[in-house]
Amino acid sequence: MKSAKKIIVANWKMNPLTREEVDAITKGSLAKAKAFKKIQMILCPPALFTQYIKAKIKKSNNVTMGAQNIAVEPQGSYTGEIGAPMFADLGITHTVIGHSERRKMGETDDMVNKKVTIALKNKLIPIICIGETVRDEEGAYLGTIKNQIAKALAGVKKESLPRLVIAYEPVWAIGATSAMEPHDVHQMTIFIKKSLIEIYKTREMLPVPILYGGSVDQTNAENLIKEGEVDGFILGRPSLNPDVLGEIMKAANTL
Ligand code: PGA
Repeated sequence: MKSAKKIIVANWKMNPLTREEVDAITKGSLAKAKAFKKIQMILCPPALFTQYIKAKIKKSNNVTMGAQNIAVEPQGSYTGEIGAPMFADLGITHTVIGHSERRKMGETDDMVNKKVTIALKNKLIPIICIGETVRDEEGAYLGTIKNQIAKALAGVKKESLPRLVIAYEPVWAIGATSAMEPHDVHQMTIFIKKSLIEIYKTREMLPVPILYGGSVDQTNAENLIKEGEVDGFILGRPSLNPDVLGEIMKAANTL
């Protein structure tokens, strides 16, 4: 399904270091988002800055905020963790789950599934990240992707699907010099849709927006949206540069 607005997830990761920089990036990003009404921007700063930034975007209707991660449990003795209900209470709308950088730190498919369940229970929209680490010629990566989707969604009812997002991010394209080719992205969006249909044993198209992430920039965004047929992007580096972010939004907004 094509979502009404193109979704732009601005994943700041563990950046920037100061509130002064936070102010500049936030101000620039909000100004850009204001100009593009067909965009829904989800700002995902480090959790520490969430409340600080949220106070600045109260009146926007196409910008909301997301968490980069939530704890695997909702509450309790988990030092250093932040639970989904806490983000929900602040008015956060989304949470990234299973980003490859977290999977690399030990996050398993089982943890991803638990987090998806907890997010949905707390009315946070999970942005479930999937992606292969290598693209082998035999096509084993397709099995990896389908498996990641099936495991992440284990126990999730079909009725909940409109309240989640899938972000396809081939790990080898994250933080790299170039993105995946738009034609290949298109193949993957088709494969992901087909996998969902198989997992849910249905014949109908399922209403899950599919995003692409990995080295999106101002030069490739238009083709990735157009040919890749994705519903938006998850951005790392460009999310810290409002000018580049604006160019990407412009490309996504016009289509
Ligand atoms: P990048 O990161 O845009 O810097 O490649 C993408 C991501 O990790 O979500």
